[in-house]
Amino acid sequence: MVKRLGVGFVGAGPVTQAIHLPVLASMAKRFSVTCVMDMDGDVATAVAKSCGARATTDFSSVLNDPAVDVVAICSPNHLHADQVVAACRAGKRGVLCEKPLATSLDDAQRVLEAQRASGTTVIVGTMHSYDPAFRASVAAWNDLRCVATFVRSVIYLPDNDRFVNLATELISSPTSISPPDVPSTPPTEFARFQGSILALAIHNIPLVRHFAPTVDDVLSARALRPFGYATTFRCGVTTVQMLGLLPGAWDPNWRFEAFAPTSRLRVRFPPSYVMAGSSTAEFSSRGSASRWRFAINGYQEEWSHLAGVLDGVVPATTLSAPIEDLRFALRIVELAKKVMVPIQ
Ligand SMILES: NC(=O)c1ccc[n+]([C@@H]2O[C@H](COP(=O)([O-])OP(=O)(O)OC[C@H]3O[C@@H](n4cnc5c(N)ncnc54)[C@H](O)[C@@H]3O)[C@@H](O)[C@H]2O)c1
Repeated sequence: MVKRLGVGFVGAGPVTQAIHLPVLASMAKRFSVTCVMDMDGDVATAVAKSCGARATTDFSSVLNDPAVDVVAICSPNHLHADQVVAACRAGKRGVLCEKPLATSLDDAQRVLEAQRASGTTVIVGTMHSYDPAFRASVAAWNDLRCVATFVRSVIYLPDNDRFVNLATELISSPTSISPPDVPSTPPTEFARFQGSILALAIHNIPLVRHFAPTVDDVLSARALRPFGYATTFRCGVTTVQMLGLLPGAWDPNWRFEAFAPTSRLRVRFPPSYVMAGSSTAEFSSRGSASRWRFAINGYQEEWSHLAGVLDGVVPATTLSAPIEDLRFALRIVELAKKVMVPIQ
């Protein structure tokens, strides 16, 4: 029998409580949560108790714990790169880092160097890129060598609390993602746009890159309120539109579509935070249509991928895809600067 992998959480907020702990509970033959660390000792203690793990407020005690094989980094975004580097240097076997891997390419490069030196398997939690129905539909698209003329990514979400509360009884209060409503000036609009691209659009950038691998020109870019973005850009013959907006009093709508002259791919993802299986993905071309949906979601797939790599049954993963995702996101942001106008 394969030994279970011990997981140590760094950051025990809503994503740990409502997403990763239920997912790992569904994979208890492969993983056991051994340690929960949070800066807030009450949160660490309560979350650790809920899953029978040890609590700590000390990051180094996670790194030095031999019962932790895999570090799950679920802290605020600006801490990710340093924490992944530290986990690699501590010789951990695996890291699951919530998105984004880093907030700058320099930081991503530091992570890459640490990962190469230690051989640690590092994966990034862009869960929809692991979604099995999405992957099946992309394979069908690739088989026909379709070239997209238009790609559309839409993420409209209500308040996360609605789904977090369905998934778990939250022990801590979620951190508000919306920045304070300061007067609209070019720098403040740009900061809002950049923040929403790195925090929200980054989820779908791995999906977009299958169809549009570069950003040649940004045609329009706008930060939305309370939090979001609307941008259109071009990659060769492909026009890409990315829209994201939250939170609001509407039903969640998380969609991805690609159009070629004779083919169409359409993917509808279930809300995050609930174990509702995979997306529903459809691919139609010249009068024939296929549809996929699986019981396993992208979060379960990302953890099972990590276990597969550590067990030696799945090829080792490199960091090239998440680093290219970050480069792509930062390129949108850089080119957006030229076309952004403040809200009047
Ligand atoms: N994959 C997804 O579906 C998804 C969805 C939402 C957010 N996320 C990502 O997950 C991560 C966590 O999101 P969240 O909503 O739980 O965030 P949050 O900010 O609400 O909670 C983060 C937790 O980290 C703790 N923390 C702060 N500084 C720390 C430190 N130095 N070391 C350890 N813990 C520290 C905080 O006390 C808090 O409990 C973020 O990176 C976010 O981008 C992923």
